[in-house]
Amino acid sequence: MKKISFVFGTRPEAIKLCPLINELKSRKILQTEIIVSGQHREMLDGVLDGFGVVPDVNMNLMREGQSLSDITERVLCEASRLFKDSLPSLVLVHGDTTTAFAAALAAFYQKIPIGHVEAGLRTYNLKEPFPEEFNRRLIDTVASLHFAPTESAKENLLREGVEEKNIFVTGNTGIDALKSTVKENFSHPLTDIAKKKRVLLLTAHRRENIGEPLYNIYSAVRRIAEKYRELCVICPVHKNPAVSKIACLELGNTENIILCEPLELSVFHNLMARSYVILTDSGGIQEEAAALGVPTLVLRNVTERPEGVRAGVLRAVGCDADTVYNEFVSLYEDSEKYLKTARSSEVFGTGKASEKIADILEKIL
Ligand code: UD1
Ligand code: UDP
Repeated sequence: MKKISFVFGTRPEAIKLCPLINELKSRKILQTEIIVSGQHREMLDGVLDGFGVVPDVNMNLMREGQSLSDITERVLCEASRLFKDSLPSLVLVHGDTTTAFAAALAAFYQKIPIGHVEAGLRTYNLKEPFPEEFNRRLIDTVASLHFAPTESAKENLLREGVEEKNIFVTGNTGIDALKSTVKENFSHPLTDIAKKKRVLLLTAHRRENIGEPLYNIYSAVRRIAEKYRELCVICPVHKNPAVSKIACLELGNTENIILCEPLELSVFHNLMARSYVILTDSGGIQEEAAALGVPTLVLRNVTERPEGVRAGVLRAVGCDADTVYNEFVSLYEDSEKYLKTARSSEVFGTGKASEKIADILEKIL
């Protein structure tokens, strides 16, 4: 039986790869080996538990304040050692994290074919998102199978010289999970708030936003919460201490702002589905928001998910405090504009991406 080694390390990679792992395991045609770097710890473990995925190897490398060089060095060396022993037929990585980049590099050095799930996303700006734009471009350079979520991602790859026969447009596996988590009768103390109040859901964690941009984002949100007392702002705070410190300082003492730990995936998805507006600098949340039709202000100058902007659900507003505040006010106070934006869209997939990728892998391997 041919073996695929999956290598990943963070929450979003797990959310987007576990549906594919479980799909392949249920078919029993290809062997799967699950290697996690542990770039994230609590945020990764919770997702693995939720999907019932048990890693074969955990490098356990997370450290507070870890640098990009630390992660790259340790994943590169450890993955190289593991691949030498286990000799996979294909290494599969996802997206644009440093774990994905270093694992792809390790496989490339050993001439092991690489598959890239969520290939072809681009801003064409190496500083935004940093270092993800670099990571995904490098992965696409060494990968031989490109699972592009959308036609636009495929076009990016074609423009860069990737052969068409190696690109497969599959939809985004992130939408697969969403199809099973969101339920009308879901109940949780946080999701139940939306029965009485309008919820503004906020997440922020990007490396390039830590520091002044994050202060600006949070101060805009505090002004929003103070102006619209009928709103409840819910902010699940990323485990990065550099993020939580600023969140506590800026958002800690406002009555209608709730700061909480990162939420379990089904709680988070159901909270998204019930939110009135989302503010985020996340990648995956942009796709999920478009699928759910929740108007979303993207706290970045550029997005690699233009499909959501074209669909009308997403709007990239950057991190300037006045701009974030004014964009929110304009969306919130103009009900016609709001209703035009609040439309669900299948631009990122229909929930069948894992099945499509598994079909292709079975055929090719
Ligand atoms: C990483 C990815 C980013 C992705 C994000 C998803 C890179 C360079 N960045 O960024 O692309 O969008 O994950 O969330 O690959 N921490 C914990 N517990 C956890 C997770 C993180 O304590 O479960 C803390 C640690 O102190 C860690 C810090 O957060 O040092 C930063 O984590 P890191 O993976 O380096 O960066 P992220 O910003 O999470
Ligand atoms: N998410 C979650 N709990 C939270 C916040 C986010 O489960 O408290 C999920 C969210 O639904 C999405 C993913 O985490 O699937 C996004 O992760 P993140 O924003 O950390 O990373 P990015 O997508 O920006 O790489």
